[in-house]
Amino acid sequence: MNIVLGVSGGIAAYKAVSLARLFVEAGHELHVVPTANALEFVGAVTWEAISGHPVTHEVNERADEVRHVRLGQQADAVVVAPATASAIARLAAGIADDLLGTTALATRAPLILAPAMHTEMWEHPATRRNVELLRERGATIVGPDSGRLTGADSGPGRMSDPERIFAETLRVIGAADATGGAAAADAAGADAADAGAGSGSADRAAVLAGRRVAVSAGGTREPIDPVRFIGNRSSGRQGAAIALAAAERGADVILVAANVEAAVLAEVRAHPAVRIVPVGTAVELRHEMEEASVGSDVIVMTAAVADFRPATVEELKIRKAELGGAAPVIELVENPDILAGLVAQRTAGQLVVGFAAETADDEDRLLELGREKQRRKGVDLLAVNPVGWTSGFESDRNSIRVLDHEGAVVLREEASKAELAASLIELFAQRLGR
Ligand SMILES: Cc1cc2nc3c(=O)[nH]c(=O)nc-3n(C[C@H](O)[C@H](O)[C@H](O)COP(=O)(O)O)c2cc1C
Repeated sequence: MNIVLGVSGGIAAYKAVSLARLFVEAGHELHVVPTANALEFVGAVTWEAISGHPVTHEVNERADEVRHVRLGQQADAVVVAPATASAIARLAAGIADDLLGTTALATRAPLILAPAMHTEMWEHPATRRNVELLRERGATIVGPDSGRLTGADSGPGRMSDPERIFAETLRVIGAADATGGAAAADAAGADAADAGAGSGSADRAAVLAGRRVAVSAGGTREPIDPVRFIGNRSSGRQGAAIALAAAERGADVILVAANVEAAVLAEVRAHPAVRIVPVGTAVELRHEMEEASVGSDVIVMTAAVADFRPATVEELKIRKAELGGAAPVIELVENPDILAGLVAQRTAGQLVVGFAAETADDEDRLLELGREKQRRKGVDLLAVNPVGWTSGFESDRNSIRVLDHEGAVVLREEASKAELAASLIELFAQRLGR
Protein backbone atom coordinates (compact mmCIF):
# COMPACT_ATOMS: atom_id res chain seq x y z
CA MET A 1 0.00 0.00 0.00
CA ASN A 2 1.06 3.59 -0.61
CA ILE A 3 0.93 5.58 2.59
CA VAL A 4 1.45 9.32 2.82
CA LEU A 5 2.41 10.24 6.36
CA GLY A 6 1.82 13.92 7.02
CA VAL A 7 3.60 15.20 10.12
CA SER A 8 2.79 18.58 11.63
CA GLY A 9 4.64 20.62 14.20
CA GLY A 10 4.10 19.23 17.67
CA ILE A 11 6.24 17.42 20.21
CA ALA A 12 4.52 14.16 19.27
CA ALA A 13 6.35 14.31 15.90
CA TYR A 14 8.99 12.13 17.55
CA LYS A 15 6.35 9.41 18.04
CA ALA A 16 5.55 9.59 14.32
CA VAL A 17 9.03 8.15 13.73
CA SER A 18 7.84 4.88 15.32
CA LEU A 19 4.67 5.06 13.23
CA ALA A 20 6.75 5.49 10.06
CA ARG A 21 8.81 2.45 11.00
CA LEU A 22 5.67 0.36 11.55
CA PHE A 23 4.49 1.15 8.01
CA VAL A 24 7.89 0.45 6.45
CA GLU A 25 8.46 -2.75 8.41
CA ALA A 26 5.03 -4.00 7.37
CA GLY A 27 6.13 -3.60 3.73
CA HIS A 28 4.20 -0.42 2.82
CA GLU A 29 5.56 2.25 0.51
CA LEU A 30 5.89 5.31 2.70
CA HIS A 31 6.19 8.97 1.74
CA VAL A 32 6.62 11.40 4.62
CA VAL A 33 5.30 14.92 4.11
CA PRO A 34 6.16 17.12 7.07
CA THR A 35 5.10 20.73 7.51
CA ALA A 36 7.83 23.35 7.77
CA ASN A 37 7.19 23.52 11.51
CA ALA A 38 7.36 19.75 11.88
CA LEU A 39 10.90 19.83 10.48
CA GLU A 40 11.86 21.94 13.51
CA PHE A 41 10.92 18.97 15.69
CA VAL A 42 12.23 16.05 13.60
CA GLY A 43 14.51 16.73 10.65
CA ALA A 44 14.23 15.61 7.02
CA VAL A 45 17.25 13.32 7.40
CA THR A 46 15.36 11.06 9.80
CA TRP A 47 12.31 10.85 7.53
CA GLU A 48 14.39 10.22 4.42
CA ALA A 49 16.40 7.49 6.12
CA ILE A 50 13.28 5.71 7.35
CA SER A 51 11.11 6.08 4.25
CA GLY A 52 13.84 5.81 1.63
CA HIS A 53 12.32 8.77 -0.26
CA PRO A 54 13.26 12.45 -0.49
CA VAL A 55 11.41 14.65 1.98
CA THR A 56 10.31 18.24 1.66
CA HIS A 57 7.51 20.50 2.86
CA GLU A 58 7.75 22.70 -0.24
CA VAL A 59 5.17 22.43 -2.96
CA ASN A 60 7.51 24.20 -5.38
CA GLU A 61 10.45 21.86 -4.94
CA ARG A 62 10.93 19.47 -7.89
CA ALA A 63 8.03 21.24 -9.58
CA ASP A 64 8.66 19.16 -12.71
CA GLU A 65 7.33 16.13 -10.82
CA VAL A 66 4.18 17.93 -9.57
CA ARG A 67 4.74 15.90 -6.41
CA HIS A 68 1.54 16.74 -4.60
CA VAL A 69 -0.61 15.38 -7.44
CA ARG A 70 1.47 12.23 -7.80
CA LEU A 71 1.55 11.62 -4.04
CA GLY A 72 -2.16 12.30 -3.70
CA GLN A 73 -3.24 10.16 -6.64
CA GLN A 74 -1.04 7.23 -5.69
CA ALA A 75 -1.91 7.24 -2.00
CA ASP A 76 -4.05 4.49 -0.49
CA ALA A 77 -4.24 6.49 2.73
CA VAL A 78 -3.14 9.90 3.94
CA VAL A 79 -2.31 9.80 7.64
CA VAL A 80 -1.53 12.99 9.56
CA ALA A 81 0.20 12.25 12.86
CA PRO A 82 0.55 14.32 14.86
CA ALA A 83 -2.18 16.59 13.57
CA THR A 84 -1.74 19.99 15.20
CA ALA A 85 -4.66 22.34 15.82
CA SER A 86 -3.28 24.46 13.02
CA ALA A 87 -2.97 21.57 10.55
CA ILE A 88 -6.50 20.42 11.39
CA ALA A 89 -7.80 23.95 10.77
CA ARG A 90 -5.99 24.15 7.42
CA LEU A 91 -7.23 20.73 6.34
CA ALA A 92 -10.79 21.63 7.35
CA ALA A 93 -10.58 24.83 5.35
CA GLY A 94 -8.86 23.17 2.39
CA ILE A 95 -5.84 25.45 2.57
CA ALA A 96 -3.21 24.25 0.14
CA ASP A 97 -0.10 26.34 0.78
CA ASP A 98 2.40 23.53 1.34
CA LEU A 99 3.03 19.99 0.14
CA LEU A 100 0.84 18.42 2.82
CA GLY A 101 -2.13 20.75 2.17
CA THR A 102 -1.95 20.27 -1.58
CA THR A 103 -1.52 16.49 -1.30
CA ALA A 104 -4.53 16.26 1.02
CA LEU A 105 -6.66 18.01 -1.62
CA ALA A 106 -5.20 16.05 -4.52
CA THR A 107 -6.19 12.68 -3.08
CA ARG A 108 -9.32 10.59 -2.94
CA ALA A 109 -7.76 8.23 -0.45
CA PRO A 110 -9.07 8.05 3.12
CA LEU A 111 -7.73 10.68 5.50
CA ILE A 112 -6.73 9.56 8.99
CA LEU A 113 -5.86 12.16 11.59
CA ALA A 114 -4.19 11.64 14.95
CA PRO A 115 -4.65 14.94 16.79
CA ALA A 116 -2.13 16.02 19.42
CA MET A 117 -2.31 19.23 21.37
CA HIS A 118 -2.94 20.67 24.80
CA THR A 119 -6.36 20.01 26.29
CA GLU A 120 -7.43 23.63 25.99
CA MET A 121 -6.60 23.66 22.28
CA TRP A 122 -8.38 20.33 21.73
CA GLU A 123 -11.49 21.49 23.56
CA HIS A 124 -11.59 24.91 21.91
CA PRO A 125 -14.80 25.36 19.88
CA ALA A 126 -12.74 26.22 16.79
CA THR A 127 -10.91 22.88 16.95
CA ARG A 128 -14.10 20.97 17.79
CA ARG A 129 -15.81 22.47 14.76
CA ASN A 130 -12.87 21.74 12.45
CA VAL A 131 -12.70 18.15 13.64
CA GLU A 132 -16.45 17.69 13.14
CA LEU A 133 -16.17 19.17 9.65
CA LEU A 134 -13.42 16.75 8.71
CA ARG A 135 -15.29 13.85 10.24
CA GLU A 136 -18.42 14.78 8.27
CA ARG A 137 -16.30 14.70 5.13
CA GLY A 138 -15.23 11.16 5.95
CA ALA A 139 -11.97 11.60 7.83
CA THR A 140 -11.17 9.10 10.57
CA ILE A 141 -10.04 10.69 13.81
CA VAL A 142 -7.85 8.48 15.99
CA GLY A 143 -7.69 9.69 19.58
CA PRO A 144 -6.45 11.83 21.09
CA ASP A 145 -5.86 9.91 24.29
CA SER A 146 -5.90 11.34 27.75
CA GLY A 147 -2.61 11.39 29.62
CA ARG A 148 0.63 13.21 30.17
CA LEU A 149 1.13 16.16 27.79
CA THR A 150 4.17 18.34 27.17
CA GLY A 151 5.52 19.58 30.48
CA ALA A 152 3.71 18.73 33.68
CA ASP A 153 0.15 18.88 32.33
CA SER A 154 -2.04 15.94 31.68
CA GLY A 155 -5.49 15.50 30.15
CA PRO A 156 -7.05 14.76 26.78
CA GLY A 157 -4.85 15.79 23.86
CA ARG A 158 -2.06 13.24 23.83
CA MET A 159 -1.45 11.59 20.47
CA SER A 160 -2.60 7.99 20.34
CA ASP A 161 0.06 5.33 20.34
CA PRO A 162 1.70 4.65 16.95
CA GLU A 163 0.45 1.04 17.12
CA ARG A 164 -3.15 2.22 17.35
CA ILE A 165 -2.79 4.72 14.50
CA PHE A 166 -1.14 2.01 12.41
CA ALA A 167 -3.95 -0.48 13.16
CA GLU A 168 -6.66 2.10 12.45
CA THR A 169 -5.06 3.00 9.13
CA LEU A 170 -4.99 -0.62 8.02
CA ARG A 171 -8.58 -1.04 9.13
CA VAL A 172 -9.68 2.02 7.16
CA ILE A 173 -7.81 0.90 4.04
CA GLY A 174 -9.28 -2.59 4.36
CA ALA A 175 -12.78 -1.22 4.81
CA ALA A 176 -12.37 1.17 1.87
CA ASP A 177 -11.28 -1.76 -0.28
CA ALA A 178 -14.15 -3.92 0.91
CA THR A 179 -16.72 -1.23 0.11
CA GLY A 180 -15.11 -0.28 -3.18
CA GLY A 181 -14.15 2.95 -1.34
CA ALA A 182 -11.60 5.25 -2.86
CA ALA A 183 -10.74 3.06 -5.82
CA ALA A 184 -14.34 2.65 -6.94
CA ALA A 185 -15.00 6.35 -6.56
CA ASP A 186 -11.94 7.00 -8.70
CA ALA A 187 -13.02 4.61 -11.42
CA ALA A 188 -16.48 6.13 -11.54
CA GLY A 189 -14.95 9.55 -11.93
CA ALA A 190 -16.71 10.69 -8.79
CA ASP A 191 -15.90 14.13 -7.51
CA ALA A 192 -13.90 14.81 -4.38
CA ALA A 193 -17.01 15.11 -2.21
CA ASP A 194 -18.13 11.63 -3.27
CA ALA A 195 -14.69 10.24 -2.54
CA GLY A 196 -14.89 11.77 0.91
CA ALA A 197 -18.23 10.13 1.46
CA GLY A 198 -16.65 6.82 0.44
CA SER A 199 -14.08 7.01 3.16
CA GLY A 200 -16.82 8.13 5.56
CA SER A 201 -18.70 4.93 4.96
CA ALA A 202 -15.41 3.13 5.54
CA ASP A 203 -15.48 4.69 8.98
CA ARG A 204 -18.82 2.94 9.50
CA ALA A 205 -17.86 -0.28 7.74
CA ALA A 206 -20.06 -3.23 8.58
CA VAL A 207 -17.60 -4.68 11.07
CA LEU A 208 -20.53 -6.20 13.03
CA ALA A 209 -22.46 -7.56 10.04
CA GLY A 210 -24.29 -10.73 11.01
CA ARG A 211 -23.67 -10.11 14.71
CA ARG A 212 -26.23 -9.62 17.42
CA VAL A 213 -25.66 -7.11 20.19
CA ALA A 214 -27.62 -6.69 23.42
CA VAL A 215 -27.19 -3.34 25.17
CA SER A 216 -28.70 -2.07 28.40
CA ALA A 217 -28.99 1.66 29.00
CA GLY A 218 -30.37 4.14 31.51
CA GLY A 219 -30.90 3.77 35.22
CA THR A 220 -33.23 1.50 37.14
CA ARG A 221 -35.92 2.88 39.45
CA GLU A 222 -36.84 0.90 42.54
CA PRO A 223 -40.31 1.91 43.77
CA ILE A 224 -40.88 2.89 47.38
CA ASP A 225 -44.55 3.63 46.90
CA PRO A 226 -46.71 4.51 43.85
CA VAL A 227 -45.10 7.97 43.54
CA ARG A 228 -41.51 7.61 44.78
CA PHE A 229 -38.51 5.58 43.80
CA ILE A 230 -34.78 5.09 44.41
CA GLY A 231 -33.00 5.96 41.20
CA ASN A 232 -29.80 7.35 39.76
CA ARG A 233 -28.69 9.99 37.30
CA SER A 234 -27.84 7.77 34.33
CA SER A 235 -29.49 9.26 31.22
CA GLY A 236 -28.97 6.30 28.88
CA ARG A 237 -27.09 8.43 26.32
CA GLN A 238 -23.96 6.26 26.24
CA GLY A 239 -25.93 3.02 25.86
CA ALA A 240 -28.14 4.54 23.15
CA ALA A 241 -25.02 5.71 21.30
CA ILE A 242 -23.49 2.23 21.49
CA ALA A 243 -26.70 0.62 20.24
CA LEU A 244 -26.87 3.04 17.32
CA ALA A 245 -23.18 2.64 16.45
CA ALA A 246 -23.55 -1.17 16.51
CA ALA A 247 -26.60 -1.02 14.24
CA GLU A 248 -24.84 1.35 11.85
CA ARG A 249 -22.03 -1.18 11.59
CA GLY A 250 -24.32 -4.02 10.61
CA ALA A 251 -25.43 -5.57 13.91
CA ASP A 252 -28.91 -6.59 14.95
CA VAL A 253 -29.44 -4.78 18.24
CA ILE A 254 -31.68 -5.14 21.27
CA LEU A 255 -31.59 -2.10 23.51
CA VAL A 256 -33.00 -2.69 26.98
CA ALA A 257 -33.77 0.84 28.12
CA ALA A 258 -34.36 1.61 31.78
CA ASN A 259 -36.25 4.87 32.18
CA VAL A 260 -34.59 6.59 29.22
CA GLU A 261 -36.20 9.79 27.97
CA ALA A 262 -37.85 9.60 24.56
CA ALA A 263 -35.58 12.34 23.17
CA VAL A 264 -32.46 10.32 24.03
CA LEU A 265 -33.90 7.32 22.16
CA ALA A 266 -35.23 9.23 19.13
CA GLU A 267 -32.29 8.58 16.78
CA VAL A 268 -31.66 4.98 17.76
CA ARG A 269 -35.40 4.19 17.61
CA ALA A 270 -35.43 5.24 13.95
CA HIS A 271 -32.84 2.60 13.02
CA PRO A 272 -34.53 -0.49 11.55
CA ALA A 273 -31.98 -2.90 13.09
CA VAL A 274 -32.70 -1.80 16.67
CA ARG A 275 -35.44 -3.14 18.90
CA ILE A 276 -36.03 -1.20 22.11
CA VAL A 277 -37.34 -2.97 25.19
CA PRO A 278 -38.38 -0.54 27.95
CA VAL A 279 -37.92 -1.62 31.59
CA GLY A 280 -38.25 0.01 35.00
CA THR A 281 -36.60 -1.95 37.80
CA ALA A 282 -33.43 -4.01 38.19
CA VAL A 283 -35.42 -7.24 38.27
CA GLU A 284 -37.15 -6.33 35.00
CA LEU A 285 -33.84 -5.36 33.46
CA ARG A 286 -32.27 -8.66 34.49
CA HIS A 287 -35.11 -10.62 32.92
CA GLU A 288 -34.91 -8.74 29.61
CA MET A 289 -31.11 -8.81 29.42
CA GLU A 290 -31.06 -12.53 30.12
CA GLU A 291 -33.51 -13.02 27.25
CA ALA A 292 -31.62 -10.65 24.96
CA SER A 293 -28.29 -12.28 25.71
CA VAL A 294 -29.41 -15.60 24.21
CA GLY A 295 -27.81 -15.73 20.77
CA SER A 296 -26.05 -12.39 21.21
CA ASP A 297 -22.41 -12.05 20.25
CA VAL A 298 -21.85 -8.98 22.40
CA ILE A 299 -23.54 -8.01 25.66
CA VAL A 300 -22.98 -4.45 26.84
CA MET A 301 -24.22 -3.43 30.28
CA THR A 302 -24.15 0.36 30.39
CA ALA A 303 -27.28 0.65 32.52
CA ALA A 304 -26.80 1.88 36.08
CA VAL A 305 -28.54 -0.73 38.20
CA ALA A 306 -29.58 -0.05 41.77
CA ASP A 307 -27.69 -2.36 44.11
CA PHE A 308 -30.58 -2.34 46.57
CA ARG A 309 -34.36 -1.99 46.44
CA PRO A 310 -36.99 -1.42 49.13
CA ALA A 311 -37.92 -4.71 50.79
CA THR A 312 -41.58 -3.82 50.54
CA VAL A 313 -43.37 -1.48 48.18
CA GLU A 314 -46.23 0.42 49.77
CA GLU A 315 -49.55 0.06 47.96
CA LEU A 316 -50.52 3.60 48.90
CA LYS A 317 -48.44 6.74 49.04
CA ILE A 318 -46.54 7.17 52.33
CA ARG A 319 -48.13 10.24 53.88
CA LYS A 320 -46.07 12.43 56.17
CA ALA A 321 -49.15 13.39 58.16
CA GLU A 322 -49.70 9.73 59.05
CA LEU A 323 -46.15 9.09 60.32
CA GLY A 324 -46.77 10.80 63.65
CA GLY A 325 -43.70 13.03 63.29
CA ALA A 326 -41.25 10.14 62.79
CA ALA A 327 -39.09 9.77 59.68
CA PRO A 328 -40.01 6.70 57.63
CA VAL A 329 -37.58 3.78 57.76
CA ILE A 330 -37.12 2.05 54.42
CA GLU A 331 -35.59 -1.39 54.66
CA LEU A 332 -33.52 -2.38 51.63
CA VAL A 333 -32.73 -5.77 50.13
CA GLU A 334 -30.01 -6.54 47.64
CA ASN A 335 -30.81 -6.63 43.94
CA PRO A 336 -29.50 -9.45 41.74
CA ASP A 337 -26.03 -8.89 40.27
CA ILE A 338 -27.07 -8.78 36.63
CA LEU A 339 -23.59 -8.47 35.13
CA ALA A 340 -22.22 -11.39 37.15
CA GLY A 341 -25.27 -13.43 36.09
CA LEU A 342 -24.68 -12.67 32.40
CA VAL A 343 -21.01 -13.64 32.79
CA ALA A 344 -22.00 -16.90 34.49
CA GLN A 345 -24.33 -17.76 31.58
CA ARG A 346 -21.87 -16.66 28.91
CA THR A 347 -21.64 -18.97 25.93
CA ALA A 348 -18.48 -19.69 23.91
CA GLY A 349 -17.30 -16.70 21.92
CA GLN A 350 -19.71 -14.28 23.61
CA LEU A 351 -18.16 -10.96 24.61
CA VAL A 352 -19.45 -9.49 27.88
CA VAL A 353 -18.74 -5.82 28.47
CA GLY A 354 -19.41 -3.98 31.72
CA PHE A 355 -19.42 -0.30 32.58
CA ALA A 356 -18.26 1.14 35.89
CA ALA A 357 -19.07 4.73 36.80
CA GLU A 358 -16.67 5.57 39.62
CA THR A 359 -15.81 8.59 41.73
CA ALA A 360 -12.08 8.68 42.41
CA ASP A 361 -9.53 11.30 43.45
CA ASP A 362 -7.04 10.39 40.77
CA GLU A 363 -6.38 8.18 37.78
CA ASP A 364 -4.58 5.49 39.78
CA ARG A 365 -7.49 5.08 42.16
CA LEU A 366 -9.93 5.04 39.25
CA LEU A 367 -8.05 2.20 37.58
CA GLU A 368 -7.66 0.39 40.88
CA LEU A 369 -11.45 0.48 41.38
CA GLY A 370 -11.95 -0.62 37.77
CA ARG A 371 -9.55 -3.55 38.05
CA GLU A 372 -11.17 -4.65 41.30
CA LYS A 373 -14.61 -4.63 39.61
CA GLN A 374 -13.26 -6.38 36.52
CA ARG A 375 -11.89 -9.21 38.68
CA ARG A 376 -15.05 -9.43 40.75
CA LYS A 377 -17.38 -9.58 37.76
CA GLY A 378 -15.17 -11.57 35.38
CA VAL A 379 -16.16 -9.49 32.34
CA ASP A 380 -14.13 -9.56 29.10
CA LEU A 381 -13.95 -5.78 28.96
CA LEU A 382 -14.79 -3.13 31.53
CA ALA A 383 -15.24 0.52 30.56
CA VAL A 384 -14.46 2.69 33.56
CA ASN A 385 -15.63 6.27 33.53
CA PRO A 386 -15.08 8.90 36.20
CA VAL A 387 -18.29 10.54 37.32
CA GLY A 388 -19.02 13.43 39.61
CA TRP A 389 -21.47 16.18 40.32
CA THR A 390 -20.72 17.79 36.97
CA SER A 391 -19.30 15.03 34.81
CA GLY A 392 -20.26 11.71 33.27
CA PHE A 393 -24.03 11.84 33.65
CA GLU A 394 -26.56 13.73 31.53
CA SER A 395 -23.79 14.98 29.27
CA ASP A 396 -23.02 14.37 25.61
CA ARG A 397 -19.37 13.76 26.44
CA ASN A 398 -17.68 11.03 28.40
CA SER A 399 -14.25 9.86 29.38
CA ILE A 400 -13.45 6.15 29.50
CA ARG A 401 -10.66 3.71 30.06
CA VAL A 402 -11.37 0.18 28.91
CA LEU A 403 -9.72 -2.64 30.83
CA ASP A 404 -9.34 -6.11 29.38
CA HIS A 405 -9.66 -9.35 31.35
CA GLU A 406 -6.10 -8.92 32.63
CA GLY A 407 -6.74 -5.37 33.80
CA ALA A 408 -4.68 -3.77 31.00
CA VAL A 409 -5.94 -0.48 29.58
CA VAL A 410 -6.81 -1.25 25.94
CA LEU A 411 -8.62 2.01 25.15
CA ARG A 412 -8.46 5.41 26.76
CA GLU A 413 -10.48 8.20 25.25
CA GLU A 414 -12.35 11.37 26.11
CA ALA A 415 -14.82 12.37 23.43
CA SER A 416 -18.50 12.67 22.62
CA LYS A 417 -20.55 9.63 23.58
CA ALA A 418 -21.08 8.92 19.86
CA GLU A 419 -17.32 9.00 19.21
CA LEU A 420 -16.68 6.73 22.17
CA ALA A 421 -19.36 4.36 20.94
CA ALA A 422 -17.60 4.17 17.57
CA SER A 423 -14.27 3.36 19.24
CA LEU A 424 -15.90 0.74 21.44
CA ILE A 425 -17.55 -0.96 18.46
CA GLU A 426 -14.15 -1.18 16.74
CA LEU A 427 -12.74 -2.75 19.87
CA PHE A 428 -15.62 -5.25 20.08
CA ALA A 429 -15.17 -6.17 16.41
CA GLN A 430 -11.45 -6.76 16.95
CA ARG A 431 -12.13 -8.95 19.99
CA LEU A 432 -14.78 -10.98 18.17
CA GLY A 433 -12.35 -11.52 15.31
CA ARG A 434 -9.77 -13.14 17.57
C1 LIG B 1 7.49 23.04 21.82
C2 LIG B 1 6.23 23.19 21.06
C3 LIG B 1 5.31 22.19 21.05
C4 LIG B 1 4.11 22.32 20.36
N1 LIG B 1 3.22 21.29 20.37
C5 LIG B 1 2.05 21.44 19.71
C6 LIG B 1 1.12 20.38 19.72
O1 LIG B 1 1.33 19.31 20.30
N2 LIG B 1 -0.05 20.56 19.07
C7 LIG B 1 -0.33 21.73 18.40
O2 LIG B 1 -1.42 21.84 17.85
N3 LIG B 1 0.56 22.72 18.37
C8 LIG B 1 1.74 22.61 19.00
N4 LIG B 1 2.64 23.63 18.97
C9 LIG B 1 2.32 24.81 18.19
C10 LIG B 1 2.56 24.53 16.72
O3 LIG B 1 3.91 24.20 16.49
C11 LIG B 1 2.15 25.77 15.90
O4 LIG B 1 0.75 25.96 15.99
C12 LIG B 1 2.56 25.64 14.47
O5 LIG B 1 2.14 26.79 13.76
C13 LIG B 1 1.95 24.41 13.83
O6 LIG B 1 2.39 24.33 12.51
P1 LIG B 1 1.99 23.18 11.52
O7 LIG B 1 0.61 22.80 11.84
O8 LIG B 1 2.15 23.82 10.19
O9 LIG B 1 2.98 22.10 11.70
C14 LIG B 1 3.85 23.51 19.65
C15 LIG B 1 4.79 24.52 19.64
C16 LIG B 1 5.96 24.37 20.33
C17 LIG B 1 6.96 25.49 20.31
